Amino acid sequence: MFSTVKLHLIKGLSALIILSGLVVAQSSSLARDYGPDCLEGFTYSGRVQGKNITIAGVPTYSARPSKNSGTKKVIMFFPDVFGPFYVNNELLQDQFASQGYHVFGIDYFFGDPIQIAQTRPNFNQTEWILKSVQQAAESVPRWIEGVRQLHGANSKYNAVGYCFGAPYAMDIGSTDKVVATAFAHPSALNEEHFRRLTKADTAFPVESVRRAHDILSANNASYHLQVFSGVTHGFAIRSDPENSNAVWAKEESAKSVIEWFNRFSK
Ligand SMILES: *[C@@H]1O[C@H](CO)[C@@H](O)[C@H](O)[C@H]1NC(C)=O
Ligand SMILES: *[C@@H]1O[C@H](CO)[C@@H](O)[C@H](O)[C@H]1NC(C)=O
Ligand SMILES: *[C@@H]1O[C@H](CO)[C@@H](O)[C@H](O)[C@H]1NC(C)=O
Repeated sequence: MFSTVKLHLIKGLSALIILSGLVVAQSSSLARDYGPDCLEGFTYSGRVQGKNITIAGVPTYSARPSKNSGTKKVIMFFPDVFGPFYVNNELLQDQFASQGYHVFGIDYFFGDPIQIAQTRPNFNQTEWILKSVQQAAESVPRWIEGVRQLHGANSKYNAVGYCFGAPYAMDIGSTDKVVATAFAHPSALNEEHFRRLTKADTAFPVESVRRAHDILSANNASYHLQVFSGVTHGFAIRSDPENSNAVWAKEESAKSVIEWFNRFSK
């Protein structure tokens, strides 16, 4: 069982998301363990609409809305280990753009997403993840400011994160820099990350959606929790196109993200 969780965080409140299927690193070390689930899946094909730009020195996929929606609405897209220029991610960002949002996808891998990195001889996944986490820590804050400068104070900003990107969507979701945040199949969030979000002292047994529900409601967070049966990790990005259940879950997940953002971006 895997899930998509969407949150609207009331200013000043922080919240915790726990999903079944979540991979939690055992220690507070940054040496995160990404299982094969993070890497498996199906690559789609299609014509992409967006373009490559640079924001605050960070390569970025930019997909503009096809229709003018009045209020300027922005999505900051924090991708999985495949990066924002992976075709599935480009198509998903285009899909969000088609719903009236200007979507920016950050390349915190700086041209070295996992599908490229792992073709190198002696590729060491632990080292690659450490490097990527460091790059993200350094680039995400200035990139967020760069996006906000591009679109100004009157725009409605949202954040969505997948797998590797989920912690960044969680982080910004606990600030007033976005009106809403969403994340799907988060991976490798360490216990420290949860403690920081919840301000709780003890490690949580991250086992169930029920637990996430309890904590979110105790924090009075606005949230919506979505659970899908019969899908594998990564379903929201790389579902098997021949599997109608997986395709349905992927589409529902994307639709719900947009509907969630629409609620708070008016
Ligand atoms: C954008 O950059 C990615 C990664 O370098 C590259 O694969 C892709 O072809 C570029 N797309 C465009 C439209 O330049
Ligand atoms: C990969 O890198 C880590 C961290 O530097 C190191 O501890 C580990 O031994 C390396 N693994 C291999 C197979 O070289
Ligand atoms: C949540 O709301 C209830 C009822 O208004 C209040 O008693 C409680 O202190 C709030 N909890 C938090 C964590 O703000």
